[in-house]
Amino acid sequence: MQKKVVFLGMGGTIAGLSAQAADHVAYAAGQVPVQQILAGVPGLADALAGQALVCEQVAQLDSKDMDVAHWVLLAQRLQHHLEQADVSALVVTHGTDTLEETAYFLSCVLSAEYLRCKPVVLTCAMRPASAHFPDGPGNLLDAAVVAAMPGCHGLLLVCAGTIHRAAMVQKVHPYRLDAFDSGEAGELGFVEAGRVRCVAEWEALAGPGLLTVEQLAQVQWPRVDIVHSHAGTDGALLRCLIAHANAGTTPLRGLVVVAPGNGSIHRALEPLLQQAQLQGLRVVRVSRCAQGQVVGASAGSVLGVPLPAVKARIALMLELARADLLGVASARP
Ligand code: SIN
Repeated sequence: MQKKVVFLGMGGTIAGLSAQAADHVAYAAGQVPVQQILAGVPGLADALAGQALVCEQVAQLDSKDMDVAHWVLLAQRLQHHLEQADVSALVVTHGTDTLEETAYFLSCVLSAEYLRCKPVVLTCAMRPASAHFPDGPGNLLDAAVVAAMPGCHGLLLVCAGTIHRAAMVQKVHPYRLDAFDSGEAGELGFVEAGRVRCVAEWEALAGPGLLTVEQLAQVQWPRVDIVHSHAGTDGALLRCLIAHANAGTTPLRGLVVVAPGNGSIHRALEPLLQQAQLQGLRVVRVSRCAQGQVVGASAGSVLGVPLPAVKARIALMLELARADLLGVASARP
């Protein structure tokens, strides 16, 4: 059977265009179709080692505008292709700005059964496709090398020659080509002159498995907002959020509090958060420190979560959605 590697386009700077080739800042992301980007990558066919290349444009946007509907669509398309016996690997082109959120969402819903035997490789660029020296083609070639590597599996990010566990990365620089960091998890390996050098055990990370891709279509996504506890806060923003929790079309169901140090919450916010919990909102706290995580999760009235804020928000959304779904299911005869 002729095997295929499927490339899914989501937009981003890798598909970006600027009026001036020297301009790496003022450009429009999500302009160039993935098929056209791939046509500009020399050596791609060799990297795929005889496998067919298939591409599909799933979305075309600046990832700052990504929302849950895009994540669901991407997860559904990935799962569809993962289920095909002739698909050996998938590569996704995506904007860098919210890539870590998409990656975390995918890690929570994609079937671990497939990720244990096939890779989903996310890749991106920091310079638009129209730049004098774009980084997208090199990243795509590296992603293809990784995707085609025998035995490769799991949800990965390949950027600037580095292979990361996609669910663990954070974008740590607004401009540098090497903009991602795996933090304490460390990198999985590197792509050097077209070859992969592994530096860590390549286990497929199984996410919390809160919802399956099949269940995503049935979900009413709950609203979860992020608030900051910082020096000098008076709680006005939080008071306003709680007072208007039920205003608008999607009621507020949860809050992630980003707090300093070990998730220490300002005394002006404590009573408000207790009030929010009495009102039925789920509240969690995370540390704003760049490294480490909240230690002693249950200290204080607000549960500590060992994730960066944007990922804690996704985890809470999934948890609430799952509880809603199970509630509906258990009410059925
Ligand atoms: C985006 O995230 O879509 C734009 C920025 C980038 O890809 O680097």
